[in-house]
Amino acid sequence: MCGIVGVVGLDDCAETLLDSLKRLEYRGYDSSGIVTQTGTTFNMTRAVGKLGALSTALRETPLQGRSGLGHTRWATHGGVSERNAHPHIADQKVAIVHNGIIENHAKLRAELEDKGHKFASETDSEVLAHLFLACFDSGMDAKKAGAHVLSQIEGTFAFSAMHVDQPDVMIVGRNASPLAIGIGDGTSFVGSDAVALAHLTRNVIYLKDNDYAVVTPEGAEVFEVGGRPVNREVVIVAASQGMVDKGGYRHFMEKEIHEQPDAVAHTLAAMTGAEGTLSTPLAREELRSIDGIVMLAAGTSHYAAMVARYWIEALARVPVSCEVASEYRYRKPVTGAYSAAVAISQSGESLDTLMAMRHAGEAGLRTVGLVNVPGSTIAREADLVMPTRAGPEIGVASTKAFTAQLTALLCFAVALAEAKGAINAKRRDEIHSLIHGLPSMIGKTLGLFDEIRPLAHSLTTARSALYLGRDVLFPVALEGALKLKELSYIHAEGFASGEMKHGPIALIEDGLPVIALLAADEVMGKAASNLQEASARGARIILVTEDRAATAVDFADEIVRVPNVDPILAPILLTVPVQILAYLTAFEKGTDVDQPRNLAKSVTVE
Ligand code: BG6
Repeated sequence: MCGIVGVVGLDDCAETLLDSLKRLEYRGYDSSGIVTQTGTTFNMTRAVGKLGALSTALRETPLQGRSGLGHTRWATHGGVSERNAHPHIADQKVAIVHNGIIENHAKLRAELEDKGHKFASETDSEVLAHLFLACFDSGMDAKKAGAHVLSQIEGTFAFSAMHVDQPDVMIVGRNASPLAIGIGDGTSFVGSDAVALAHLTRNVIYLKDNDYAVVTPEGAEVFEVGGRPVNREVVIVAASQGMVDKGGYRHFMEKEIHEQPDAVAHTLAAMTGAEGTLSTPLAREELRSIDGIVMLAAGTSHYAAMVARYWIEALARVPVSCEVASEYRYRKPVTGAYSAAVAISQSGESLDTLMAMRHAGEAGLRTVGLVNVPGSTIAREADLVMPTRAGPEIGVASTKAFTAQLTALLCFAVALAEAKGAINAKRRDEIHSLIHGLPSMIGKTLGLFDEIRPLAHSLTTARSALYLGRDVLFPVALEGALKLKELSYIHAEGFASGEMKHGPIALIEDGLPVIALLAADEVMGKAASNLQEASARGARIILVTEDRAATAVDFADEIVRVPNVDPILAPILLTVPVQILAYLTAFEKGTDVDQPRNLAKSVTVE
């Protein structure tokens, strides 16, 4: 998954391209590159690694030109190297940048190589440059070439192509991967999302699947596959929030962990109606008609879905199926028992989740997008949007978006339960006021940084670690393990405490760190016995719990205490210490906390 940008009709456009790429670096940081053109030549600079490397190269050798393309890469096909970095240029005549996967690239490449084309990289994307070259060499104009290339390629794509003789023309196209065209005053832009363009223009055209467009400084002509002109509306997007800074923290992740009281409070406000009671985007009648929910998500968002399942089934007595988004549509799910699908995504762009939501929609389910990025593809395509208000999340490992998702999902569960008559208005308001107390409880829990630091230091030498949780804390154990994996590269696994004895307990040996989540809930006793079984085999029990439950595990080696909390809120509050533990372990290990290796903030390939 990569970030692409382009501009036509702007003097010294290289700086602008670089600035837009900075806003897309969350989409991949394996390598990057920019190509500009002066009307007779292409000038290109590419660099392996973060955008910083490209900035340095461009300072040393600035690029001239009034139009160009830029790219930041998350490698899919071909290793991380300069020759696999984008842009790709064919025969010094056509330059392209691409996000997505051209699934039939091998066949097309072989056909082109048979015709004498010389490929320079191992990527699937380079085939686009040679396909356009073949079109132009056969005398096609931009419009014809666009239609022809789209008719040949299969897969997911957002691309932009330029011919060296046509400095003011970009040909762009998309299928599944996001693409926005920015209309300026005598200048036009293209970007993987509006965020990359919002500081340049607020007039944005979103292409639909299998659309392509010929973009010039005057504007964009959009066509459907096959070449029929179509009209796509110009949307006015939110003004740019400017480049988000770290606000004095060492990392965006550290800042975002500290922003959780606000993220939870703002999300709660978005889920509270004018009369001060819980409300959701779904009308009461619609809530009442829901008789089954499919939750679709990836990564950390999937664990939020798993927590929500416990709440919704316990409170509203509505069956919930939690689906790993990348598995959902290919397993040919039986959807009859469900009437709604909730797609959970911080970015609103994860392609696995988007395609799963589309599949559920095509099967007749009402689709609800729980997203943190307004204007994202899932937000635009879902029947209804339930926003989290965590603000921009830059750190690749999700933190504040997760607790904001949990807050919105708990509000949704309570509103659904009340609408279904499973709880009364009094209980609804009780839980609502409990949630109101969360921001200050999280604030107190943020005071644990110093206490957790020595624990984190001791984990830096661990080869692996286990996370245990029972009932609604099981998904939080999974999230804790994911955080340690994502950030410190220590192999960690989360398990349901009760499941340990059926196999994973074999992993336990002397001193193996077992991070155990425990709340004073109805399964506390059972969970404590599971920890006893692990401790009996030499595990080092690191207990993360609320004060009043600590005594239940008096054999713990270390205890991290959060304020006493109602069991229904425990998954949200106990998430914070496991985030801090993973952050500090990574910090102590010196890994790249905000941009861990091999990851990207949201992945728009399947
Ligand atoms: C991964 C991110 O790419 O996508 C994770 O590294 C994230 O942090 C996952 O949880 C899902 O992303 P989203 O935006 O759909 O919630």
